Amino acid sequence: MNHWWEIPKHQTSRNNQLWIANQKATRLAKQFQTPLFVYNANRIRENYRRLCEAFDATGAPYSIHYAMKANPHPAILALLRKLGARIDAVSPNEVRLAKQTGFSPEKIFFTGTSVSNDDLTELIASGVLINIDSFSQMRRLTEKKFDGNASIRWNPGTGAGIHDHTITGGKFIKFGIPEKFILKAFQTARTNGLCVVGLHQHIGSGWLGNDVQKFLKTVEKTISVGKKAEKILSKPLEFIDFGGGPGIRYQEKQTDFPIEKYAQGIANAMKKNSLNCPVVIEPGRFIVGDAGILLTEVNTVETKNIPVIGVNAGFNALIRPAFYGAYHEIVNANRLHTPVKVASMVAGNLCESGDVFNTDKYSLRKLPKTREGDILAILNAGAYGRAMASNYNLRERPAEILIDEKKTRVITRKETFRQLIQNQKP
Ligand SMILES: Cc1ncc(COP(=O)(O)O)c(C=O)c1O
Repeated sequence: MNHWWEIPKHQTSRNNQLWIANQKATRLAKQFQTPLFVYNANRIRENYRRLCEAFDATGAPYSIHYAMKANPHPAILALLRKLGARIDAVSPNEVRLAKQTGFSPEKIFFTGTSVSNDDLTELIASGVLINIDSFSQMRRLTEKKFDGNASIRWNPGTGAGIHDHTITGGKFIKFGIPEKFILKAFQTARTNGLCVVGLHQHIGSGWLGNDVQKFLKTVEKTISVGKKAEKILSKPLEFIDFGGGPGIRYQEKQTDFPIEKYAQGIANAMKKNSLNCPVVIEPGRFIVGDAGILLTEVNTVETKNIPVIGVNAGFNALIRPAFYGAYHEIVNANRLHTPVKVASMVAGNLCESGDVFNTDKYSLRKLPKTREGDILAILNAGAYGRAMASNYNLRERPAEILIDEKKTRVITRKETFRQLIQNQKP
């Protein structure tokens, strides 16, 4: 029996059981304990290659900067570095980690917001390209005599994303230089003697197929600004960066993101407008999102006012449902297609009524009749999962394992109580 979420060699069903990278999910849960993030290295590689193939087919020059905020684990960074990825970092510590993982500074772009003077000092010393987000940042970089490469992030006035919180273009948005000031920003940069070599936009995260058109309209606008910027700077841009955003299929009713249409659309717009510099993209979710699964064990099955399935993870492990009302497919790893289905609340172990893995507490999810001790797999948890985890309720953040072909290894141990309190003084 095939399920919509099955991905050959990655997540499959066999004999009523979930298998991840050819390993039985329940066996992984038993061996490594739950809650547990499981990543499949081959799926990460495959996603990266799918992107490369889509851009290779356009014949235009490009580079892929992995948005490490989606999942900053050094094992994943190392894997992507071997494939030729570069890095999009959003904090000085992300820059540090990327460098420690072997990325040279010229392969790292920093795109931060509300950047402090201390952050700027560290970034300047690190040698990475700084993507300027505000006139304030530009002024302070000039005062600090920054002579490295810079680019300017603008807000093209519209955005797209899976949730309001992930839309980063438009009026009530903190990021970038707005349309009415963008040419002035290039003029000021030139007057100040900054070495501006690129233009950047990132309009939001987690697009669905029909967001591509919206995105491509902003691409046209950005290219037009890019051409004016070249005149102001009296030199060609070295790159134009269209940010991240391509989504993944979280729900059956969604379709796979049309990656070829996206790549070809960018290339066509560049060609049509005779802008010849390389294109940069900064995907995060598309590369790691569907490569990660959160395994959690059922400890309580009870009909309260509604049927409740209590599990040993909470939004401290995966906050997307509680924070964004995000849909994550939940499957019973040891009872995949048991016919009897019960509409249930999948409840986390935190003391918050919003701590559920359904999209919200009112939307019950039809799951096979579940027993205590069953293992539930929350799919598509590879991006913005462990990366956004916290210690709320003094819960430890979960362990992470990476499966690479026949090799499975713990890449993050579960935190200990001692670690949680080590910096606190009574
Ligand atoms: C500047 C920037 N680039 C890239 C990304 C990655 O987005 P996504 O994971 O949707 O590709 C983000 C995430 O919001 C971002 O803020």
